[in-house]
Amino acid sequence: MISLDLPVIPEHVAIIMDGNGRWANQRGLPRTFGHNKGVEAVRETVKAAGEAGIKYLTLFAFSSENWSRPASEVEDLLGLLRRFIRRDLADLHRENIRIRIIGERQNLRGDILPLLLEAEETTRNNTAMTLVIAFNYGSRNEIARAVARIAEDVEAGRLKPAEVDADLISRHLDTADFPDPDLIIRTSGEERLSNFLLWQAAYSELVFLPCYWPDFGRQQLYEALRVFASRERRFGALSQMTTAVVG
Ligand code: IPE
Ligand code: IPE
Ligand code: MG
Repeated sequence: MISLDLPVIPEHVAIIMDGNGRWANQRGLPRTFGHNKGVEAVRETVKAAGEAGIKYLTLFAFSSENWSRPASEVEDLLGLLRRFIRRDLADLHRENIRIRIIGERQNLRGDILPLLLEAEETTRNNTAMTLVIAFNYGSRNEIARAVARIAEDVEAGRLKPAEVDADLISRHLDTADFPDPDLIIRTSGEERLSNFLLWQAAYSELVFLPCYWPDFGRQQLYEALRVFASRERRFGALSQMTTAVVG
């Protein structure tokens, strides 16, 4: 682990990896070049996050809405995910990284689901860091699936409507096993969540960086960690400073 000399390091960092297409456009290249380069940024970020002492890193790789892109681009993105898992799984396993996938699994076709399950299964007992890959993920879809399961429990008499609270909902989400993200980073200058972790982001610190995802790496991650360390999280209570004055 390297010392960043920061008073606080977030336990869970989630990243909306955006701007691959624009990175490529800017260079007169097809969008797929941006996606390819984006995979290198993923590798560097995973390494840097582990070295900084981050315990959970969630990466938004493909949204439920990304299926509406041209078929060729969707194929490129699926191909990259396949290759990333085939090529990098052994390395991640060696680094003691546990892989978990969030997102809708029901409608995935072909070899994608078995590959994702293999990555989870191979690395399930690893303890250095949890790498959560959000694939075919959309928050509204995730919440709808959770509500449907809760409704089934109520219908079957296993649960009373009055027992439904925020904690129960959290425990039915794909992220049930992980703490909420402390920090959410989005690259490319866009300042929106695009259906990412809407429930879990209730008290996350948001950091928007201008750089495109392929240009993201250790330096940009650590910059975001510095911004995070300078923020005061209040969770609806009073500021530490106010409390000190009030006594
Ligand atoms: C992020 O880059 C990758 C995915 C959404 C899968 P984009 O492909 O969204 O790139 P821009 O935003 O069009 O530049
Ligand atoms: C969000 O980026 C999804 C991922 C990073 C996987 P998009 O590029 O799809 O989001 P919008 O369309 O700009 O909101
Ligand atoms: Mg985008």
